[in-house]
Amino acid sequence: MTFLRKLALSASVIALGCSSALAADLTVGFSQIGSESGWRAAETSVTKLEAEKRGIDLKFADAQQKQENQIKAIRGFIAQGVDAILVAPVVATGWEDVLTEAKEAEIPVILLDRGVDAPQDLYLTSVASDQVKEGRVAGEWLVNTIGDKPCKVVELQGTVGSTPAINRKKGFEEAIAGKANITIARSQTGDFTRAKGKEVMEGFLKAENGGKDICAMYAHNDDMAVGAIQAIKDAGLKPGTDILVVSIDAVPDIFAAMVAGEANATVELTPNMAGPAFDALDAFLKDGKEPEKFIITESKLYTPADNPQAEYDNRKGLGY
Ligand code: AHR
Repeated sequence: MTFLRKLALSASVIALGCSSALAADLTVGFSQIGSESGWRAAETSVTKLEAEKRGIDLKFADAQQKQENQIKAIRGFIAQGVDAILVAPVVATGWEDVLTEAKEAEIPVILLDRGVDAPQDLYLTSVASDQVKEGRVAGEWLVNTIGDKPCKVVELQGTVGSTPAINRKKGFEEAIAGKANITIARSQTGDFTRAKGKEVMEGFLKAENGGKDICAMYAHNDDMAVGAIQAIKDAGLKPGTDILVVSIDAVPDIFAAMVAGEANATVELTPNMAGPAFDALDAFLKDGKEPEKFIITESKLYTPADNPQAEYDNRKGLGY
């Protein structure tokens, strides 16, 4: 963004007597992936609330899981001359051209919850979790829980080519490396959805002696875990006991499953990516302060020892 553009925004702030640049009727485009998971629905709803709180006019575009729709939406935001763009990129590759177009139009872009394979100067900042760490936390939980017992794991991966699928797999594998008793027997994408998680788990159960050979199921998100829990029950086994269940997100439904004794661990991913994103944008527009390139959110482990009923109650109202 040029000095003149920033000056114009600051002048409108002063004219309105506002203390924050973001109170000056900014227009921000948000290209969201879709609504594949409960977590995604909560992120959408929290982003809308955060925008409303700050007086931002949020232009929302749902890409229905398609990168081409996201690229089209971003081009539309550029044509409208929005003040900034938020994008949750469905996959890692293929962004360079459109991000360059935004840069040439002097519109700052902020990445939410997933990364891209593109030069870092093409976006202002990225607000996301450390996804390798999330996988590692899940894997370390399993290592500590299993000890030296033999354990065949089945893995439900997220969307192929997305950074959480790539990194959560990597982190989990790092955690179990060197533990010869723990092996990943099967690994397949469930596309971060409940329906696909159930379908893929049904296949794993059939292939592994009706599930009797499976010791644990690791899912890259809670929604796939919830689908898999149903498949395990349909196969006549007890999720959480016969097959351990560990996943990522900390959505209300996984806490309900913990209360029922059907899930064992989850790693929290906050749906509030927009709060830190708007704060960074605010400081950038007001003072030209470049934010950190990566704003990393926390990755906390929850188990049934953490009062899952209270965690369920706390999250219920967040739009999951
Ligand atoms: O990018 C974050 C992931 O995307 C969440 O863990 C998952 O639920 C979502 O769909």
